[in-house]
Amino acid sequence: MTDTTTSVEDAVHLLPQTRYLRALHTIVRDRHAKRDDFVLNAGRIIRKLIEAGLELLPFEPYDVQTPVGRTYHGLRVGPQICGVAVARAGESMEAELRALAPDVRIGKILIQRDTVTKLPHLYYAKLPLDIARRHVLLLDPMLATGGTALAAIEVLLGEGVPEEHIVFINVLSAPEGIAAVRERYPSVRMVTSSIEERLNENAYMLPGIGDFGDRFFGTD
Ligand code: URA
Repeated sequence: MTDTTTSVEDAVHLLPQTRYLRALHTIVRDRHAKRDDFVLNAGRIIRKLIEAGLELLPFEPYDVQTPVGRTYHGLRVGPQICGVAVARAGESMEAELRALAPDVRIGKILIQRDTVTKLPHLYYAKLPLDIARRHVLLLDPMLATGGTALAAIEVLLGEGVPEEHIVFINVLSAPEGIAAVRERYPSVRMVTSSIEERLNENAYMLPGIGDFGDRFFGTD
């Protein structure tokens, strides 16, 4: 049995499957969706995911004065967070992260499968210099086989980010990808809006959404 430090319930945060979320999924999964509708409604799902991801990160006490002269003992998102987008599809999630945490630092990782070896290869990484002291929202809308995810997490660990400081945000997750991440990195937490049935023979998720990056960036 795998020795996990986090139970599956703690590790995988599935957004509440509300009717509104289902309506958003209905728009973005429709093969006939126009690009504008895809981008708008994928953004709405991503915002919910990032809000759920932020809930897992540290907040700090922050007092404000209300207009009627009282102190509200509030909270604000801690300064020690950052986002890391897995290019290209993960870049689709940056705008919503910036909307929710305007001064957040955002790093970038480009990993692509080598055409010969089929193994994920790191082509580019630009990360905040002090990333080892930060909690990281790792952004990639699709968790399919988990190959890219494992490579991206490895880059973060190599920079000194503790495994338990990584929250991986995905729009759709395949059971195969979740299992791969959990097996290798049991303390990484995942936030997703859907756990799909399975992968097809081309590693696309079912029922799925198609190629997220192509649909978001209009390259399909
Ligand atoms: N990447 C995608 O864009 N879609 C999938 O279904 C799997 C990987």
